[in-house]
Amino acid sequence: MTHAEHLDELTLEEKASLTSGGSFWSTKAVERVGIPAVTLTDGPHGVRLQRQGGDHLGLADSVPATCFPPAVALGASWDADLARRVGVALGEEAKAEGVGVLLGPGINIKRSPLCGRNFEYFSEDPLVSGVMGSALVGGLQSQGVGSSLKHFAANNQETDRLRISADVDERPLREIYLRAFQRVVTEQQPWTVMCSYNKINGVYASENHWLLTTVLREEWGYEGLVVSDWGAVDNRVTGVAAGLDLEMPASGGRTDAELVAAVRAGDLDEQHVTTAARRALELVDKIVAGADASASYDVDEHHALAREAAGRSIVLLKNDGDLLPLDPGSDDTIAVIGEFARTPRYQGAGSSLINPTRLDDALSELTKIAGDRVRFAPGFTLDGSGDAASMRADAASTAASASVAVLFLGLPAHEESEGFDREHIDLPADQLELLAAVQAANENVVVVLSNGGIVRTSTWQHLAPSIVEGWLLGQAGGGATADVLFGVINPSGRLAETIPVRLEDSPAHLGFPGAFGHVRYGEDIFVGYRGYDARSTEVSFPFGHGLSYTSFAYDNLAVDVQDASLRIQVEVTNTGSRDGREIVQVYTGLPDSTVPRATRSLAAFTVVDVAAGSTATATIDVPRSELAYFHPVAGQWTVEGGEYRVEVGASSRDIRVSTHVSVAGDDLALTLDETSTIAEWLDDERGGPLLRSALLDGESGLSGMLADPEMLKMVGSMPLGRVAAFPGSPLDEAGLDELVQSAKR
Ligand code: BGC
Repeated sequence: MTHAEHLDELTLEEKASLTSGGSFWSTKAVERVGIPAVTLTDGPHGVRLQRQGGDHLGLADSVPATCFPPAVALGASWDADLARRVGVALGEEAKAEGVGVLLGPGINIKRSPLCGRNFEYFSEDPLVSGVMGSALVGGLQSQGVGSSLKHFAANNQETDRLRISADVDERPLREIYLRAFQRVVTEQQPWTVMCSYNKINGVYASENHWLLTTVLREEWGYEGLVVSDWGAVDNRVTGVAAGLDLEMPASGGRTDAELVAAVRAGDLDEQHVTTAARRALELVDKIVAGADASASYDVDEHHALAREAAGRSIVLLKNDGDLLPLDPGSDDTIAVIGEFARTPRYQGAGSSLINPTRLDDALSELTKIAGDRVRFAPGFTLDGSGDAASMRADAASTAASASVAVLFLGLPAHEESEGFDREHIDLPADQLELLAAVQAANENVVVVLSNGGIVRTSTWQHLAPSIVEGWLLGQAGGGATADVLFGVINPSGRLAETIPVRLEDSPAHLGFPGAFGHVRYGEDIFVGYRGYDARSTEVSFPFGHGLSYTSFAYDNLAVDVQDASLRIQVEVTNTGSRDGREIVQVYTGLPDSTVPRATRSLAAFTVVDVAAGSTATATIDVPRSELAYFHPVAGQWTVEGGEYRVEVGASSRDIRVSTHVSVAGDDLALTLDETSTIAEWLDDERGGPLLRSALLDGESGLSGMLADPEMLKMVGSMPLGRVAAFPGSPLDEAGLDELVQSAKR
C-alpha cells in the first residue's frame, strides 16, 4: 500500500500537519499510519546536509559534499549533457546522505548585474536557463531524488526580497521570467517547485492562485508539490487555497491549527487541505521509492567531474596575440599573482554554501604542471588588511622577472551574497592598482577573474592581452583553471550574460531594485542582450561570447521550414590547429513584427566538437514555439506570420551566417467587439471583410476615409463603438451589435 492510499484514513488535523515542516529540513511523520518524515535540503550545486541544528543561511556546519560549479559557471558551459551529468552526481550524493529532495536548481533570470544572488542563477536568457535547468533536474531525478525548482517566480533581486512586489507585465512575465520554469516543468515534472518570497503584481507568490494554479497546474500540467521558500508564507490559509502545498520550515503547529480552524469555520474548503496532503504523501512515496540505505558515491570521481565541469565553464574573454595557452614544456617563468590563486573563491555565500570534500587552488595546480617556474606574490589581501603598497611592489618585481604574469583578480566574498544586492560592478580599487603596477612591469598579463556576478572590464581590459572569466568554479576550479591556462582544455565556455561597458547601460538599471515595496520591470521583454541590442548599446563582451584556442568558420546554412520546427543545418569547420568545441547559437528575429520584439532572441544552441582541420555539420531544430510571443489580450502564445531572420553565430554580436525564411502565422483568436479599433477589425481575417462590407459599400464619408490610406492611418485607432456613436454614422447601435455577433467565432 502506498502512503498516498492512506489519505482517506487521515483526520483533518493530520492532513494539515503533513503540509508544513516538522523541523528546519524535514516534513512531519504521521506515526499512527506509518507515514515517515522526509528530508529536503539545499542545494543547488552540492548537498548541504546540516549536522545539527539548522539555518537557511549556511551558517551551521554541514556534511562534506562535492561542491560542483555554481550555476553562474555551469550556465556558461551551455552544455546540457554536462548539466545532466552533474545532476546525476548530485542525485547520488543526496541519496547517499538520505536526502529526498535537493533544493535547486535556481533558474531565475539575471535581470540586473546587481542581483546579489546571480551566482546561483544560470543566465539572462530564458532558453539557456531552461535548457540547463531541465538537464540538471533530469539527471538529479533519474537517481530517485527530487528537485525543487526555484524560486517561482520573478525573484530577481535580494533587496526587500521577502516583501517586494515584482510588477511585471504579462508579456515579459511569460516570455522571460516564467519561460524557463515552463520548460523545466513540462519536460521534467520536478518533484517540487519552490515558490518565491516576493509578491508578483501585488500578490505573494505563496498566495498567488494565478501563478500556482492557473499557470502552473492548469496550463502547464504540473503534478508535483509546491513548497514555500523558507519562511515565505504570509497567510497559510490563503496560500493553501491558492495552490501552496507545503510550508517550510516548521511553524510549530501554529499554521496547521489555522488551517483546521479555517476549515471548521467554513472559510476554507477542506478539499484544498486534502489535495495538499495528497501531494505531500505522493512526494513521500517517491522519496521512499528512490531511497537506498546502502547508497554511496565515489568522492574522487565526483571531484573529477567537478573539474571537468569547471573547465567547460571557464570563458576565455580575450586572448590578444595568443598569449594563452601557456606552454607546459617551455622554460619560461610564470608570475602567479593575487591571493585568489592561493585562496580560491569558489562558491557564493548563503543557503547554497557547501562544505567541500576537498579544495583545489590554482597556485598548487599550476605548480604541479610548471614546477619551480612558478613564482607567487599575493598582491593583495582578501580583507583589505596589510600594506597594499609593499604587496604591490613585491608583485610588480615578481612580474618583472617572469615571462608572463597571471593575475588572479575578483570580487571579495563580502561583496556578493544571498540576502543583499551589489551596489556596483567594479573590481576593488586596490586590485586595479595592482593590475596597473603589474602591467607596467610586464605587459604579458593574463587576468583570471573570480566572481559570481559579472564585473566591469571596460576600464582595464586594455591592460591585459588575455582575460579568463573564471566565475565561481566549485571545489575543483583550481585544477580546471590550470587546465585552461595550459591548454589541457581548449576553452568552450560562453557568456550566458552580457558584460556591459557601464552598469548604467544595463536595461533594468533605472528600475532596480525599486522602492516603496515595488519594483517595476519597465524594460519589458528587453532584458539582457535583448535590451542592449534593441538600443545598439556598445558592450564589453556580448552574450554568447567566448574564445577558443582554435577558430571556427561557418558555412552553408540551410533552413527547412517544417510544420513543428525550423530545421537548421550549418557546417562548422575548425580552421585552427587544435581540436576544439564550438557552441553554435541560433538566433531569430522578425524585423517587420507588429509587436515589440527583440532584435534577436536565442532560439536554439548546440555543442559541436570539431577536430583541427575538420568540418562538422550541426543540425539544430528550433521548435515553432520558440518563434511565438505571448499575446496578452488573446491570452495565448502565437506565432506571427512573416519573414523571419535566422542568424547563426558564435555570439549575439558575432553572427556568421544568416538567411530569411517565410513562416505562416497562427490564427489568432482575438475577440472583436465595440472596443476593438477600426484597424484591429480590418486586420482580422474574419472581422475585416465584415466591416468592409458594412461600411465601405455605402456612400458614407467613412467609406471614403477608409479607402484613403492616409486617412485610415488617422482613424484606424478609433474603437468601433465610438464610430457608431457619431451623428450620421453609417453604423448605428443595431448595426454594430450585428457586426459583433457575426464576428464571433
Ligand atoms: C533560499 C532558498 C533556500 C532556502 C533553504 C531560502 O532563504 O531563498 O533558496 O533553498 O532558504 O535554505
